[in-house]
Amino acid sequence: MKQSECLGVNEQGHLTIGGCDTVELAKEYGTPLYVLDESGVRAACTSYRQSIERFYQGKGMVCYASKAFCCKEICRIMDSEQMGLDVVSEGELYTALQAGFPPERICFHGNNKTDHELRYALESNIGLFIVDNVYELERLNSFAHEMGKKAAISFRIKPGVDAHTHEFIRTGQIDSKFGVALETGEAMQIVKEALKLENVILKGVHCHIGSQIFELEPFELAAQRMIEFMAQVKEETGYTIEQLDLGGGFGICYTEKDAALRYDSYMEKVSVVVKESCERLHFPQPFMMLEPGRSIVGSSGITLYTAGAIKEIPDIRTYAAIDGGMTDNPRYALYQSEYEAIVANKADQPKTMVVTLAGKCCESGDLLGENMPIQPVTSGDIVAVLSTGAYNYSMASNYNRLCRPAVVMVKDGACRVIVKRESLQDLVRNDL
Ligand code: LLP
Repeated sequence: MKQSECLGVNEQGHLTIGGCDTVELAKEYGTPLYVLDESGVRAACTSYRQSIERFYQGKGMVCYASKAFCCKEICRIMDSEQMGLDVVSEGELYTALQAGFPPERICFHGNNKTDHELRYALESNIGLFIVDNVYELERLNSFAHEMGKKAAISFRIKPGVDAHTHEFIRTGQIDSKFGVALETGEAMQIVKEALKLENVILKGVHCHIGSQIFELEPFELAAQRMIEFMAQVKEETGYTIEQLDLGGGFGICYTEKDAALRYDSYMEKVSVVVKESCERLHFPQPFMMLEPGRSIVGSSGITLYTAGAIKEIPDIRTYAAIDGGMTDNPRYALYQSEYEAIVANKADQPKTMVVTLAGKCCESGDLLGENMPIQPVTSGDIVAVLSTGAYNYSMASNYNRLCRPAVVMVKDGACRVIVKRESLQDLVRNDL
C-alpha cells in the first residue's frame, strides 16, 4: 500500500489522515504524536488474506509480526481480522494475551528464548514455537515433558538466500544469528533430532530472509529451497512436514524512490514456485504461512511533531528541529532510512524548501532525515513524517528521559487514543 491512500488535504490546506485533520489532532493530543489509520491496517490484512485465497486456494494463514507495532488494540484488530500473531518475547506474548488474542493463533519466535519464556508460552498453550537451535529444542522438550504437554514446533531455517536490503535487517544468509543452515546439514540434523523427541511435534519449517525487500526473486528462491528441503526430509526420514512459513519482509514505500511490491504479485509468484516444486518432487502442497509486519502497519502511520528552532547555516544546510527524534524514530540513526515529510498546516503548498530534520536529543546523529524537500517550515508549524507505522513506536526509547508519545487511531473521521502518552511519573516509576 502507498502512504498516500490514507492521507488527504482539506479545505484549510491541512494534512488529513483517515479523515481527521492532523493539525487538530496535534492540538488535541499534543506532539510528538503517532497516528495510525485503522482502515489502512485492515485493508492490508484483507489483501494478504485474499491473495492466499486467490493464489493458494485458501490453504494458509497470515500472521502479523507484532514487533512492527505491538499494543493491545492492534492485537484486538488482528484477532478480528482472523490473523495469526508472531511474537518474539514474553512482553509481546503478554500483550497479546492481555488483549484476549487466541493463544492457538500465536507463533513464538526468537533466537534466544529464555527458560521462563518457554515455560510461559507452554503454559499459555500457544499454537506454535519456531525453534531456532538445538539448545532451545532440548529445553522446550524437557519443559513440555515436565508439564505433560506436547509442543507444536517449526524450525527457523537459513535458506542461504541473500536479499538486497540493509545488512542489519538481512537474515537469510548463512552468516546470521537466526536459525539453522541448510547447506551445512545443520537443518537436517535438527529435524532428525526433533523426530526422536517425545514432547515436541514437528509441524513446519520457517524462513525469513530479511526486511524491506523489493525484489521477488529472493522470496521465490527461498520458497523453492524450502520445499526441496521438506522433500529431502521426507525422503530421508519418511516424515512429512506440513507447514511452510515464508516469513515477512515485503518492502513499503517510504519515499517516491521506493517501488513497493504488491502482495498479490508476491503470492502469485511464490504460489507457482511452491506448487511446481511440490509437483516436481512429489511432495504434498504445504499449509502456507506468511508473517508480514511492516507492510501491515507501516504505510498507515504518521508521526506529528511541532517545529522548534530553524537554523540556517549559510552554504551548508538548514536544520529544522522537531520536538521528538531518535527516541520515537531511531530508523534514520540506525539504517539511514529515508522518509517523506510534510508541513501539516501548509500541506497544500509546494515543497520549496530543503531541510535536515533534527531531533531534540543530545546526539549529532539524532536526525530524521537529511536534505528533505518540504513546504516552507517555520517555528510552531506541525511537521508530519510519513510511513512511520512500523518499527517506530515499537523501537522507541526514553533516551534523554523523553516520554514516549501517545498513539492515536483514526478511522473515517473519528479518533481515539490507543496508547497513552508517557508521563513524567512513568519515567521514574521504577526508580528507587
Ligand atoms: N518474521 C520474522 C521472523 C522476523 O524477524 C520479522 C522481522 C518479520 C517476520 C517481519 O518482517 P517485516 O514484514 O516487518 O519486514 N527494525 C527494522 C526491521 C527489523 C525486522 C525484524 N524482523 C526496521 O526498522 O527496518
